[in-house]
Amino acid sequence: MLMVGLISLLLLRVCGCRVADAPDDVTAEFSVRLYHQLQMVGGEEDNIIFSPLSVAVALGMVELGARGSSLEQIRQAVGYSHFREDEEFSALRNLTQALAADEAQYVVRLANSLFLQTGVSFSPDFLRLMKHYFHAEAETVDFSEAAAAAEHINTWVQNHTESKIHDLVSPDDFSSMTRITLVNAVYFRGSWKNQFRPENTRTFSFSKDDGSEVQTLMMYQQGDFYYGEFSDGTTEAGGVYQVLEMPYEGEDLSMTIVLPRQEVPLATLEPIIKAQLLEDWANNVKKQKVEVYLPRFKVEQRIDLRDNLQQLGIKNIFTKDADLSAMMGKELFIGKAVQKAYLEVTEEGAEGAAGSGMIALTRTLVLYPQVMADHPFFFVIRNRKTGSILFMGRVMNPEVVEPFDHDFDSV
Ligand SMILES: *[C@@H]1O[C@H](CO)[C@@H](O)[C@H](O)[C@H]1NC(C)=O
Ligand SMILES: *[C@@H]1O[C@H](CO)[C@@H](O)[C@H](O)[C@H]1NC(C)=O
Repeated sequence: MLMVGLISLLLLRVCGCRVADAPDDVTAEFSVRLYHQLQMVGGEEDNIIFSPLSVAVALGMVELGARGSSLEQIRQAVGYSHFREDEEFSALRNLTQALAADEAQYVVRLANSLFLQTGVSFSPDFLRLMKHYFHAEAETVDFSEAAAAAEHINTWVQNHTESKIHDLVSPDDFSSMTRITLVNAVYFRGSWKNQFRPENTRTFSFSKDDGSEVQTLMMYQQGDFYYGEFSDGTTEAGGVYQVLEMPYEGEDLSMTIVLPRQEVPLATLEPIIKAQLLEDWANNVKKQKVEVYLPRFKVEQRIDLRDNLQQLGIKNIFTKDADLSAMMGKELFIGKAVQKAYLEVTEEGAEGAAGSGMIALTRTLVLYPQVMADHPFFFVIRNRKTGSILFMGRVMNPEVVEPFDHDFDSV
């Protein structure tokens, strides 16, 4: 696994696709493993959304306070084994700094914190490092007052995510035994470089993988995007599939959509998704004119990091075997770790958005490659310079709308 990571970095340097001094994300392999883990434990028809970068940052905070095998398990699982000691913290800081942008282009809010039982105090060194690497404060809360603790944490999260993420934790998450909780939330709002015109959005049928159909709002545009058709050379992925990369304003971030053929369930494509393949897609899509049909969608998911990270080998920090001695030096383990991610994809933009005028919505005359996301697809939102993965997920169920009185065919 380590080899794959290194090879991909070498390839990238050789092809010069990246700015030479941009930090490279080494956690792609970990991100993909976590995706497959969530896919395995979730329902077959469920959407997935999580933020690998945000999980890596949260784990980095814990790692600062970890020693012994607790530390080793995190380094191993996340992919830092080849780093010099502590180098991952500087890497994480660089990756999050690379996201600081002009807020006219996009807004990213990583809300990560450790909440510790009041009355016990963190080591000053640990607090200093938290501030240095993560610009974060560790907070205190009285977990024995479960309802008040949950409310306090939820307000903190709301404050850090433009009020988009509510109810991250509930009073049931805590007991008088709780000493520390890892809180991890992320909110993203981006403007497309090429915006969709709201007047081109129509209700449209979306065919789910279970064979049923739902009505959803489908956005449409013809524009210049990065596009490619791929095949893994076997029938495993259902033959040829499409990859469309759509940059956000500023072009630092982009969303890549991976769409199997209409009759091929997404589950057939998912097993081939690997860290190396994400790189291959990014390096092989070509700028060209594409016709895009994409549902307007909103996905949100709360993930129990404790259960899922244990499956990926990060076990100790959640058990009595934890060694978090650099954090406070007493018997301490992470009782609860949750992530909630929220992503909204819309036309973003409206009147006055640059566009190419009214478009004839004919489905018979196809001049350009057509990406018709009217069935389940996989997506990734990445920093195009660093490769770091802000979000990864899939849409199996778009938002359902009441049937409307017009559709593409009647235009
Ligand atoms: C992070 O950025 C700093 C300053 O650009 C650089 O010196 C350092 O090597 C980077 N760290 C990593 C691990 O890439
Ligand atoms: C949330 O923000 C409000 C207003 O800025 C502030 O008064 C409050 O203390 C914050 N709450 C938490 C838990 O951070």
